[in-house]
Amino acid sequence: MVFESIATERGCRSYLVGCPDTSRAAVIDPEITQLDRYQALAARNGLSIRYAIDTHTHADHFSGTRELAHRLGVPVVMHRKSPAPFVDLRLDNGEMIVLGNLRLTAIHTPGHTGDSMCLLTEDRLFTGDTLLIGATGRTDLPGGDPEALHDSLFNGILKLDPALMVFPAHDYQGRDHSTIGVELATNPRLQNRDRQAFVDMMQRLNLTMPTHITEALRTNMTGGKAVAQLLSEAAAGVPFMSLAELKAQVDGGLTDMILLDVREREAYDAGHIPGARLLPRGQLELRVNQELPDSTKRILTYCELGRISTLAAATLKELGFQRVVALDGGMQAWQEAGYPVVGTGPGESS
Ligand SMILES: [Fe+2]
Repeated sequence: MVFESIATERGCRSYLVGCPDTSRAAVIDPEITQLDRYQALAARNGLSIRYAIDTHTHADHFSGTRELAHRLGVPVVMHRKSPAPFVDLRLDNGEMIVLGNLRLTAIHTPGHTGDSMCLLTEDRLFTGDTLLIGATGRTDLPGGDPEALHDSLFNGILKLDPALMVFPAHDYQGRDHSTIGVELATNPRLQNRDRQAFVDMMQRLNLTMPTHITEALRTNMTGGKAVAQLLSEAAAGVPFMSLAELKAQVDGGLTDMILLDVREREAYDAGHIPGARLLPRGQLELRVNQELPDSTKRILTYCELGRISTLAAATLKELGFQRVVALDGGMQAWQEAGYPVVGTGPGESS
């Protein structure tokens, strides 16, 4: 088996598993920021990714399954109970994904979520958030059920071969893997096997909510985009200009370019870059024909922090402005650099 484990700073773990004889591979629990890495690792190992699999609906990070599947033209695989409408291949308990000579068998393990499954192949078990190293998945998020988790663990995966290696979807301490036997012996949450005691312990954990839970659930359940993804896609499609280059252009009298401030009027009046024209992002599409009649002109957009201006530049490019550029930075960085500002100053605008 070809095997790669990919960890992110925030404790997410994904896995690339492949058949060396047929070069077919799958990515388990891909995270949206790591897609290039999975593709690069697959290429380095001579593998072709054939499936993008999520072990469950993640609430704490942005799943990359849909985007990876879209890029590669491969199916998104989840358990039958996944609420996501974009799942192409829904597995029931005991069903398998065939990767050449490798078999990935789905074991339905509800508890952390209703759609949780573990994936068994050869000497290893991908446990998602059902069983973690020294812990279990939490059961207090949408779809969580401590009684079901108790059942999935003690009547399910913990009865498998103790030598099976455990690869979870998260590890916050950078540990690589464990085994069923080690977890049975040492995992503090597995020491009292009584159902009610387990349920009481899970209900007393009182964990903090994951950051971005609303956005993660929204995007992972619908296939919609995270805001960061929207921004990164916009940024990938436009060129940027440095603050120093813009300063040189301003000093030269902006002869070759329209400088567009896309913030609100109040912010513009309080202080803007010399020579800038105001066209708020919210009015861009409605006023573009009057304000920017020449689509061959070079246009530079800026805002306060450099994010809205990137979206504005991407919109202008989509509208046919081929020479649109976004500022690498924003008004805040411009002011911090000590560059000139025109305006009434903060709080004095009307
Ligand atoms: Fe999870």
